[in-house]
Amino acid sequence: MNLLSHLINAPALTGAVAPSSQFLARAMADAASGAGHIVELGAGTGPVTRVLARQHPEASLTVVELQPALARKLSRAHPRAQVHARPAAEVLDELKYDGRPVVLVSSLPFRSLPTLLRAETRHSILQFLRRHPGSWLVQFTYQPRAPFDSDVDFTWNRTRFVVANIPPAGVWTLHAAA
Ligand SMILES: C[S@@+](CC[C@H](N)C(=O)[O-])C[C@H]1O[C@@H](n2cnc3c(N)ncnc32)[C@H](O)[C@@H]1O
Repeated sequence: MNLLSHLINAPALTGAVAPSSQFLARAMADAASGAGHIVELGAGTGPVTRVLARQHPEASLTVVELQPALARKLSRAHPRAQVHARPAAEVLDELKYDGRPVVLVSSLPFRSLPTLLRAETRHSILQFLRRHPGSWLVQFTYQPRAPFDSDVDFTWNRTRFVVANIPPAGVWTLHAAA
């Protein structure tokens, strides 16, 4: 079994009992208001993708989903999106935008990802935000605390708590500290 097959067969990568509800998807999309570019990380079957595409037609949309079969479906459902079936860290390390703010909208299960993958992904997100001033991360979590520990040059804020989701989830944003 190669590394990619191993990763995509690990239940820790999904970290969810059910797809995000439409209420959670809307709360995530609301937190991306003002984006010029949206990069969705861990799109799964696409409940958040659908709302992002509908609510932010003016923003470019890049979608990252590790599981190739899901990525193919997302690509068919969203022909205007760039879809990558690769680890989020790899894609973020290569992406470069000019001008308008980039919003990373992530459903990645940080609390259950394997340690190395979690560390690499966290590092790539923080480096991406440092390279793109004025950009931010939107992340949901089922935990009663921030999705992961960030560095001192960033600040977490919980923007919403969505009860109508299984299980209920908090929507958090991570911005460069003022
Ligand atoms: C909790 S599910 C979220 C699915 C969907 N966005 C939702 O809200 O229902 C997390 C998704 O992230 C994907 N994933 C996990 N680790 C990843 C990584 N390092 N890079 C890209 N996708 C990843 C998994 O394959 C899974 O589909």
